[in-house]
Amino acid sequence: MSKVSIIGAGEVGAACASCLADRDFVNEIVIVDVKPGLAEGKALDMRQSAALKRFDTNIKGYTGDYSFTANSDVVVITSGITRKPGMERSDLIATNAGIVREVSQQVANYSSNAVIVVVSNPLDVLCYCAWKSSGFPSNRVLGMSGQLDVARYKSFIAESLNVSTKDIQALILGGHGKTMVPMPRYTTIGGIPIRNLLGEEKVQEAIHRTQLGGEEIINHLGRSGWFAAGAAICEMVEAIVCNQRRVFTACAYLEGEYGYRDIYLGVPVILGQQGVEKVIELDLDPDDQIRFDESQKEVRETLELMKNILR
Ligand code: 2OP
Repeated sequence: MSKVSIIGAGEVGAACASCLADRDFVNEIVIVDVKPGLAEGKALDMRQSAALKRFDTNIKGYTGDYSFTANSDVVVITSGITRKPGMERSDLIATNAGIVREVSQQVANYSSNAVIVVVSNPLDVLCYCAWKSSGFPSNRVLGMSGQLDVARYKSFIAESLNVSTKDIQALILGGHGKTMVPMPRYTTIGGIPIRNLLGEEKVQEAIHRTQLGGEEIINHLGRSGWFAAGAAICEMVEAIVCNQRRVFTACAYLEGEYGYRDIYLGVPVILGQQGVEKVIELDLDPDDQIRFDESQKEVRETLELMKNILR
């Protein structure tokens, strides 16, 4: 029996639940939201799609009652406010840090063996918050950002080359913000290094568009997106629940890897039943190291801000 709980029945939480149900590998999904009726209504709607979409996953929604999340294998935290036009992810910290702290404590009370996947923004520092507040070992608290950013990067490369996204392998280091570090040196298309196929100007264009991938959607919608985020979370949850040991970019706790300590950042990891089974370290050339350092610095500034808020 596998059970996944999703905290937050907003667009991202609901997209994640729907994607998980479609894949039909989880027995039970529990959605919890503070807004009365929201989780119940969305869960009911999804359950009614089961006969049409042909899944057996049972989906239930509850208002504010975490007892229904008990004994989850994975808990996804999407709670908090989302960005509006002109906002940076770090602008959300004052509100979302308090929310994620409380949610993580509740989650830990009811599912002491779960893996927590944080999605709320600012992602990297809220992973740190969830780790501290849950009291879990750091491998069992991680963040979903890399899979989304990598998916965006792949979509822009595929568009430029007019090829399938399926054949693109890529990774991104650093924080989930404008300073994230897409890595052309570790980007291949059907095994062919990207620079053999795409000119430098187009490579830089894909990098830039990826770094501003969230903003581009906010500029269209007036708020951040959810389809790609929901699918990215779903892929991570599947890797954990089914112990697939996938190699993904995830936001993981670093204890000296890449020269950084006591911080959550996006890095390649092996993802399995215990969450982050291993952080994979890569050789970086000096330019990549400078870009990674900048991203690390930006995340650390927000982290210090959060520590002061929660003090
Ligand atoms: C994004 O990049 C919401 O942070 C998320 O769209």
